[in-house]
Amino acid sequence: MGLAFVDLCYKGLMKKFLVTGGAGFIGSHLVDRLLASDIERVTVVDDFNDFYDPSIKRTNILDHLRNPRYQISEVDIRDRVALEQVFDKNNFDCIVHLAARAGVRPSLSEPQLYTETNINGTVNLLELARHKNIKQFVFGSSSSVYGINAKVPFSEDDPIRQPISPYAATKGAGELLCHTYSHLYGLRCVCLRFFTVYGPRQRPDLAIHKFAKLISKGKPIPVFGDGTTRRDYTYIDDIINGVMAAINYDKSDYEVINLGESRTVELRELISLLEKELDAHAIIDRQPPQPGDVPQTFADISKARALLGYNPKTQFEDGLHRFVEWFRAKLV
Ligand SMILES: NC(=O)c1ccc[n+]([C@@H]2O[C@H](COP(=O)([O-])OP(=O)(O)OC[C@H]3O[C@@H](n4cnc5c(N)ncnc54)[C@H](O)[C@@H]3O)[C@@H](O)[C@H]2O)c1
Repeated sequence: MGLAFVDLCYKGLMKKFLVTGGAGFIGSHLVDRLLASDIERVTVVDDFNDFYDPSIKRTNILDHLRNPRYQISEVDIRDRVALEQVFDKNNFDCIVHLAARAGVRPSLSEPQLYTETNINGTVNLLELARHKNIKQFVFGSSSSVYGINAKVPFSEDDPIRQPISPYAATKGAGELLCHTYSHLYGLRCVCLRFFTVYGPRQRPDLAIHKFAKLISKGKPIPVFGDGTTRRDYTYIDDIINGVMAAINYDKSDYEVINLGESRTVELRELISLLEKELDAHAIIDRQPPQPGDVPQTFADISKARALLGYNPKTQFEDGLHRFVEWFRAKLV
């Protein structure tokens, strides 16, 4: 990441930030970047739930806690009253809303929890943004909203009326709610559709991290389907460049924008690259395709390039190498 990019996208108009989910994978990287910029204050709302080991989230924020421009509120976004108290104490210019129940497969067994968090929690934040006259709302959406989209690459104009998991449906609903609040109350909303994000601190439930753990322990890795599913993997630094640009986007009141690398990697290829990086053999435990999983994701990023100056630079092989370096260091 070059400093020049940060200077270009961070115009210094926004000073006081709320980052929901700021102890998680993407959120903690965003907080790193914000604290490295000329902002006044970053407030994080995160409930440190046990979707994965909360001690990982505590580790993610260790450096942040030492910064006087940082504060953390351990609040659940479903709790409107507690959330309101956070807003009453602060005068936010911008909300980056990343708190969510993430993950496609677990959403099938806990649809209510996903709905309450990802939809009701988002409404709580939009309501507070409206009442507190906050200028900018950046929403962390997902490529999963495209469902089984046969047309590639996926573009923002493609219909998203056929999600195939509760998680995808909640993210689509979040985008629609952002549109409603933008239309009714002039809140500027930028919905960013992230395509499988990876890199240091990646969530342990996601394939790259999960496989790295199992392969390095000599345990079998579950491979759903015949290994031909494809994903557009996006390196975390590229994603954060896109989020920083969205924070300052001011050309229209509502946009939906893909953030991917615009290259797809087959599951079989991912496994063999990981074997090479880890210098270990993967034992495959073949499983039937999982309900809710889409066969492919592939982002058309021409809109992100045009509106945000987004220009992802990380080749998958390089990003995977950096992930494995982090993964190995963590084990020491
Ligand atoms: N990682 C990806 O590949 C990816 C892809 C598409 C979209 N997204 C979206 O990006 C966002 C961040 O994802 P991530 O991978 O960093 O996940 P993450 O689970 O690491 O981060 C989410 C954070 O939100 C917090 N959170 C969850 N529910 C909460 C609640 N009710 N109240 C307060 N905090 C709560 C969690 O404790 C966690 O720290 C999510 O909205 C996710 O849906 C991620």
